[in-house]
Amino acid sequence: KSAGEGALFSDEEYVKEGAKIIESAEEIFEKAEIILKVKEPLFNEKFGKHEVDMMHKGQYLITFIHPASPVNHEMVKNLAAKGVTAITLDGIPRISRAQNLDALTSMSTCAGYKGILMAANHVSRFLPQMFTAVGKIDPAKVMVIGVGVAGLQALATAKRLGAVTYAADIRPMASEQAGSLGANVVDTTVPAELAVGEGGYANRLPADVLIQEQKALEATIREMDIVFCSALIPGKLAPIIITEEMVKGMKRGSVIVDISIDQGGNCELTPAGGIETKHGVTIMGVKNIPGELPTSSTWMFSNNVYNLVKYIAKDGKIALDRSDEVIAKSLVCIDGELVHAGAREAMGI
Ligand code: NAI
Repeated sequence: KSAGEGALFSDEEYVKEGAKIIESAEEIFEKAEIILKVKEPLFNEKFGKHEVDMMHKGQYLITFIHPASPVNHEMVKNLAAKGVTAITLDGIPRISRAQNLDALTSMSTCAGYKGILMAANHVSRFLPQMFTAVGKIDPAKVMVIGVGVAGLQALATAKRLGAVTYAADIRPMASEQAGSLGANVVDTTVPAELAVGEGGYANRLPADVLIQEQKALEATIREMDIVFCSALIPGKLAPIIITEEMVKGMKRGSVIVDISIDQGGNCELTPAGGIETKHGVTIMGVKNIPGELPTSSTWMFSNNVYNLVKYIAKDGKIALDRSDEVIAKSLVCIDGELVHAGAREAMGI
């Protein structure tokens, strides 16, 4: 009941589509064979119970679980012990045939777009070049650090708004993609053999190399009106790229939007979950940015999850083929056993 209100979907609309409205979350966990949700199982204040404790053997769970993250280790072990079969959306492999199942990419698209709009709203000047009766106003300068899915979307959005764009990424392929979107690519000076790890993803850099990168980007950052931070290393803490000293050197009235805040942030001063002005720079650490775009993010998320259920259902029954890469990489637990490789490694199993 009322579950869709935050995304502007009413109970009546669900009923019209054939759904039954159920009053209590506990009852849903008891009745459903498959639970589809946005967030990992959490403690439910109303019932004074953890959602895992409301689940039962043989039930399927599909959501973002982030099973390798230490805060989730106990929850994941409990899920396995319960006999739940859990699939994590953050484990869907980045391969062509799994693209329409990839909710992480969908949410990154939302965060890249909306993150730039939020920054544009806080920055002290126009983004596009303006010709006014009192003279020409130069376009704003926007830099994106970490050009994955979110960063590319941020670059494209800033460009549409008329800004001049700059980009920095330690992976040569990401820099190339940024360049093809018309961004000025800034050299991080990090050698590719250090930057790129298994599967083409970014590596965690040694401390001295990270300092070298900070120095290489400092002069450009000082010129910027908006710096969009989205540098991440899968399953690890985000690298600190902007130090307090670097913020002090930035223009008054400029904005840092740090969407990597869930993994600790790319700027030393980013307030987790908030917006603060420090040394004259507005620093935004807003969490759950896709939630600020509920109609579009819900549409994308629900289609990804629908496609995933369709993918694993054969003749009205769930049939998991564990030799399929999509299942092998996203399965967290099955038959009482924790099978997720990243989580096992992180737990030292
Ligand atoms: P991500 O969110 O893990 O990381 C964002 C970016 O931060 C990466 O480009 C990374 O190189 C960069 N980064 C990490 N440390 C950095 C540092 N110290 N300085 C500067 N930048 C740093 O990346 P995301 O969005 O998961 O994308 C990763 C790759 O996967 C991309 O090349 C993307 O095109 C590809 N991809 C492929 C898909 C498919 O084929 N289905 C779907 C989604 C992504």
